[in-house]
Amino acid sequence: MRPALLDHVGRLTDDDLPAYVYDLPVLREHARAIRAALPERVELLYAAKANSDPRILRTLAAHVDGFEVASGGELSHVRRLVAEAPIAFGGPGKTQTELARAVHCAVERLHIESEHELRLLTTLLGHRSADVLLRVNLPVDLGQVALVMGGHPSPFGMDPAQLDRCLELIASDPRIRLRGLHLHLASGLQARAQLALIDEVLTWAEDWAHERGVDLAELNVGGGMGVDYTHPHKLFDWSALGAGLARILARHPHLTLRIEPGRSVTAYCGWYVTQVLDIKFSRGQAFAVLRGGTHHLRTPAAKQHDQPFEVIPDDAWLRPWDRPEARDEPVTLVGQLCTPKDVLAHGVMVKRLRVGDRVAFAMAGAYAWNISHHAFLMHPHPTFHHVDDVEVSIPGDTYAHQMS
Ligand SMILES: Cc1ncc(COP(=O)(O)O)c(C=O)c1O
Repeated sequence: MRPALLDHVGRLTDDDLPAYVYDLPVLREHARAIRAALPERVELLYAAKANSDPRILRTLAAHVDGFEVASGGELSHVRRLVAEAPIAFGGPGKTQTELARAVHCAVERLHIESEHELRLLTTLLGHRSADVLLRVNLPVDLGQVALVMGGHPSPFGMDPAQLDRCLELIASDPRIRLRGLHLHLASGLQARAQLALIDEVLTWAEDWAHERGVDLAELNVGGGMGVDYTHPHKLFDWSALGAGLARILARHPHLTLRIEPGRSVTAYCGWYVTQVLDIKFSRGQAFAVLRGGTHHLRTPAAKQHDQPFEVIPDDAWLRPWDRPEARDEPVTLVGQLCTPKDVLAHGVMVKRLRVGDRVAFAMAGAYAWNISHHAFLMHPHPTFHHVDDVEVSIPGDTYAHQMS
């Protein structure tokens, strides 16, 4: 944790904890570096589902080409906060009300998930028009990745054969402009795997478009850029992705390529800071019970990983008994919930961890608070803080680290 954040955390009272602390200069610099690594012709959307915190969205607005939203709620939220930013509205199961709102807001792109959804859209357009991408689920082999959303039977997008009915409907309705295709097949891919997938998808898409006489102006290849929670300093190799995309685009001079990452953009700017309430030993194994838990930070439970953390020692101890502590041993960090699933990190070696010490979980800026089951057990919600002190510089080679 950098000094300005540590300083902020030092000023939080115990009652302020747990706290989410967002590092806006780090976010700003990270987003700027991502944008700089990508060719100009690649449009960068931020997937708001990863974290729709207002100050995060406003910070990102200066560095992205728009936002991807996946619900009427996200659509209204993003429109209100960053009114001018282009929006792509995707996601399965859009309701009639949500589609009508998207038409009313004139979102820049609608990602159509099924023939039924397209038919519903035609009933809502009135005298308006819509620019759509058809979401396709290509049967590709994705291998071992964190989260597979396509390539096999799934509720996301359409099988290639189902696109033809959509083409007929679009051909008969001049209010609908088909701009191209959308895919989001997996999350957790590294740059090389992303590029191979994009190449495969593009080859298929061009053949498909050629056979059907479709002008394929745009391809949105989704998000899913890998984030490695076991190696917090190994960032996704944006430089390699950018260089590879430039090579691909050189072969396709008229195509606009769009990506919509979420996790890899905001994961690193967020910290979940809490405090050790108790240290217990069960059959010789050490457990640190923390304020809060997975009802605030569900990420490690959802992804089945150990959330990386730093210990911030607090030497104050005024109780008249020995301070419970674990020393040079593996400790399992759990929350306050009455479930064995409330584990933030399993058996991680610590030098020293004492009741009253603070623990700052890193990489808590994406799919963290907003995917957590806040109401369970009615514990108080965390407090939220945004540190926006200085321009920080991230070493130039940071974006050249290939994730292993
Ligand atoms: C359609 C779509 N686009 C983008 C994303 C963002 O993915 P990630 O946060 O892994 O980059 C998701 C995540 O589920 C998604 O479903």
